Parts: sequence; structure tokens; C-alpha cells
Amino acid sequence: MNRRTFVRNSLLAAGGLTFGGRSWAGKVLPTQPGAMSAEQIAQARFPRDFLWGMATSAYQVEGAWDRDGKGESIWDRWTHTPGRIASGTNGDVACDQYHLFRDDVALLKQLNQKTYRFSISWPRVLPAGTGAINEKGIDYYSRLVDALLEAGIRPFCTLYHWDLPQALEDRGGWTNRDMASYFADYAGLMARRLGDRIAVWAPFNMPWWFTWAGYARGFNPPGRANADDFLRALHTVALADGLAYRSLKAASSRASEGNAYAYEPAYPKTDSEADHDAARRFHLLNNVLFLHAARHGNYPDAFVGEVPYEAMGFRAGDEKILQHPLDWVGVHYYMRLAISAPATAPRPAAGQRHVDPMAQCVIEQYSVGPQIGNGTELWPRAFYDMLMQLTRDFDRPILEITETGVVLPDRLNADGQVHDPDRIEFYRQHLAAMAQAMADGARVRAYHAWSLLDNFEWNDGFTHRFGLTWTDPTTRRRIVKDSGRWYARVAAANRLDV
Ligand code: NOJ
Repeated sequence: MNRRTFVRNSLLAAGGLTFGGRSWAGKVLPTQPGAMSAEQIAQARFPRDFLWGMATSAYQVEGAWDRDGKGESIWDRWTHTPGRIASGTNGDVACDQYHLFRDDVALLKQLNQKTYRFSISWPRVLPAGTGAINEKGIDYYSRLVDALLEAGIRPFCTLYHWDLPQALEDRGGWTNRDMASYFADYAGLMARRLGDRIAVWAPFNMPWWFTWAGYARGFNPPGRANADDFLRALHTVALADGLAYRSLKAASSRASEGNAYAYEPAYPKTDSEADHDAARRFHLLNNVLFLHAARHGNYPDAFVGEVPYEAMGFRAGDEKILQHPLDWVGVHYYMRLAISAPATAPRPAAGQRHVDPMAQCVIEQYSVGPQIGNGTELWPRAFYDMLMQLTRDFDRPILEITETGVVLPDRLNADGQVHDPDRIEFYRQHLAAMAQAMADGARVRAYHAWSLLDNFEWNDGFTHRFGLTWTDPTTRRRIVKDSGRWYARVAAANRLDV
């Protein structure tokens, strides 16, 4: 799902933010400088050991959905249901990375990459989610990791990028509290088998988002639209994160844990008190709820009314499970958002306005800065703000950028190449913003572009291309785009004027 769809479909929930507090937000948005200057781009420098990388996820690239003993996932079930995916496609073959992983590792090496963020498909290694192990599945990831290490590339492993074993959904999915320990067992298994070679583990990708989309709104699997289910799922996932932290550490002395959070810098639409409060709530729920839970053992006071502990199924002692240290913090950045309180929001055009009844805020995309592709606003300053906010609010954590990227209507040209200057500009601008944040104290150690390949973009199927490499939908042939070549030069030079 791309970010426009993401905002259009979801949004969301409550939230609110601080962004340097009232002083920052007191300024009128359209006058904020959104872009980085030519000078900032020319001066941007990155440390010699900076980890340049790319990201993918299992369901989006692997294919082989039923090969070698893999179990069915909720995304298999969802995409096989007629009418779910606009183009009628599915991830059965996807980019066929299951068979082509050696080529993809060679490609990463050719592009000078130092880190690759991939995910493990839970039903590939544990077809029923618990119990019997599929050794062929483990063997696949073992070979992938060996190939990466041989190529000098750090494996960054996400354990859950949304493809829940269908067998566990049949037992209640994330609304079932037992899921927390099933997940921790799975994490422990992977760390026992691969922890000698993988050090960096992210239990979850976008935990707020997948619980919201799957349980509160129902436009992603398992397709439920029920506030109570959402709240229970949210708490189970937070418990699972706490337990997984412990099982990863117990199984591997090298394990370091963080998550990959979707972080959408949220700005109050106007300077009104109500919009400030709405933006604060949005931020605390959508962006940092899980970070807050890990740190404090409770949930931020940002819901409308009291924090709904009872509906979440919170029990005495859960605070100890939630709480754990942050080895590092992983964040995605795609766009900034304008947040307002329903009462103060003017009436935006249909399709641009999203009200969350639980959190009582209105979410809109900005279109103040230049727009690229199908309407992505280029406003890298928000990426800078986000990194500085995390740096301030969480005591200078080590940061891993787990994703940024842009969907564009790429075409294969007559010369057999894909020319995507807008994507180059997108990355140049955002990397300059990141360099500025690093110069100002943000401890960013890695950056993963989304994505190595054009891949299966969830409900949008293959219609949305995010890759730095073109993937032919029929032959699965890979063609490095201009942006991929540019990014490879950046990775080699640690600067942007390449
Ligand atoms: C976030 C998700 O982690 C990824 O799966 C998705 O493809 C990209 N963003 C683009 O929408």
C-alpha cells in the first residue's frame, strides 16, 4: 500500500504531537522551508562506516507461497479472495526472490550496499505458527544470510512484516493474548538458528499500522473492523514485542532489538489550541505508542477519554512485560501530515479528509511543496524535524532508517532503461535532510531505501513501483533504474554530489 492509499484509507487515529512543542508549531506551515538547499546537498557528508542499504519484505518479494512446506499466511488467503486486489494479482510468485535470492544479493553488492533489511515469513518456518518446524524454510533464510555475509552485507531481519500464519488467525489472530508467547517462541527459534549470523532484529514492521488496518478498519487482512479487536490486538502486539526482546536476548548474546515504526511527522494545521492537541494525540498514538510502552510499561495518555486498558485486556504485571530497553529505534519516513481537531477543520476536498472517531482528529496530506509522481509532496524538512524530535524525546537513541521511498509511474524506455529523475531528487533531498540532522546530533547509523525491487504493493498489487530496480512483471528480470545507479554512487562516496 503506498502512502497516499495509506493516508486515504486509514487515517486515523488520534494523536498529537510536540514537535519542539508549541514554539515550532506556532509558525504558519506554508512558510516553512520544505526543501534542502543546493549548498546543503553539496556539503552533506556521511561517516565512512555509514550503513547504506535497501529493504524488502517476504510477502512482497519472495513468491513460492506454497513451496517446500510453507504454510498459508493471511495475505495468501486475502489475495486469493476474488475482488480483494484491484488488479486481481497476488504475491504467489512476486519477485520470485525465493529462487532468485543469489541474484538479488549480487545486485545489492553491485550497488555497494552494506545492509539489507528483509523479513522472515513466519508460516515458511512454522507452517501452523507454532509446533512443527519446516526445516526447508529455515534453510532458505540460512542460505540467504550466508550469501549476504559473504557479500559483505549486514543482514537486518524483520520477524513480522504482516504475513501472519493463517492457522493463527484461525485461533483469533492478534486479538488472542496467547499470540504474544507464540510470537516470542518464533523469535527465539529464529535467534537460535540464525543468531550466530544475524545481530539486528526487528520483531515488528509498523505495529500501529497493521493492527489499525487489519483490525480497526478492515482493509487489510484479517479484515476486521472493530474497535475492541483493534485495542486487544494492539496490546497483544506490545506484549509480543516485550517477550520477543527477551527471547531474542536469551537465544543470542549478539542480538540487538528495535522495531520498524511508521513515523509521520504531524503538524497542527492551524495554531489553535484544539489543533495542537489533536496533533499531539496523533503523534503519541500513531508514531510512538510502542516506543512509549517499551520505555514506560504503559500507554500514552492520548486516547479520547481514559486510556482503554480494560478493553485492551491489560492485566496486572503487564507493565513489566512491556518495558524493555531500546537498543536502537527503527523508523520509516514517507510523508508529513496536517492534523486538526474535527471542530476546527475546514472542509477539505473529499478523499483528503480522514476522521478518526476514537481519537478525534482529522488527517490530511499536504500539497504545499512540489508534488512528484502521483502526488507525493516533497518536503524533506519534515524528515529532519522527525529525526531531531526522536533525538530529543528519546535521549539520543541510535536510529536506523528502516524505509523511505517514493512511488512513481516508471516506464521501461526504448533504450531498455528506466529514467526516474524524480526519484533521484526525492532521495537527494531526504538524504541531505538526514545529513543535516546527523550534523545536529541525530545518531543515524543506517538508511534503507524502499525498495531494492519493484514488488507486490499489498492491495495495490504490482501497480505501484517503489523500486530502485525495475522488476519485469512477467519475466521477473531486474533492471537497475537510474536512481539505483545514483544511490550506488552515493553509497560508495558517502556524499550526495555524485
Ligand atoms: C511501508 C511498508 O513497510 C511496506 O511494506 C510498503 O510496501 C511501503 N511502506 C510502501 O507503501
